[in-house]
Amino acid sequence: MKFFIDTANLAQIKEAQELGILDGVTTNPSLMAKEGIKGKDAIMKHYVDICNIVDGDVSAEVIATDFDGMIKEGEEFAELHPQIVVKVPMIKEGIKAIKYFSEKGIRTNCTLVFSAGQALLAAKAGASYVSPFVGRLDDISTDGLRLIEDIRVIYDNYGFATEILAASVRHPMHIIECATIGADVVTCPLSAITALLKHPLTDSGLATFLADAKK
Ligand code: E4P
Repeated sequence: MKFFIDTANLAQIKEAQELGILDGVTTNPSLMAKEGIKGKDAIMKHYVDICNIVDGDVSAEVIATDFDGMIKEGEEFAELHPQIVVKVPMIKEGIKAIKYFSEKGIRTNCTLVFSAGQALLAAKAGASYVSPFVGRLDDISTDGLRLIEDIRVIYDNYGFATEILAASVRHPMHIIECATIGADVVTCPLSAITALLKHPLTDSGLATFLADAKK
């Protein structure tokens, strides 16, 4: 199972990379705005900076919603760095763009996926990753993890190569459930990953061992 960090914050990306368990990074326009990254040149530079920190895939999201615009932006992103994966929204023009990129050998991440039917279309178009948003479904009283289960079954039924990138993963139980279901990747804030470290019996056990070692 791959761990991606869902942020455009370079300090957090470095921290996750230094932990030794980071497989990639996902970003989106909201995360870039949160870091104050504005304008095309600054955004392009930021993606290169992220690629230079991590060893794995870095998703760069297109802003255009028409086919020609998405192709132009995606090709520019793909030329930036070999680690770039072009993130394309799950809309009709997006599916056409994913098909185009797939035929050109440019890797894609189909984002804003909220149903099994959308995930099936993304795989048919040749997406490298599909991003179902677990947390945002939970937010509207719908079972986000059930969607991951359904996509896993569908992809396994037909041997689709598209990797299930569970997105909008918010807390450690989401990560554990995604691992149990067999999601290929989770993307989440660093805090959800470091929360996996915590157990009170680890803390109390270590305190006892250290105290006993002094005896
Ligand atoms: C995925 O690629 C998205 O950037 C992200 O996971 C969305 O998460 P959120 O619902 O917590 O904003």
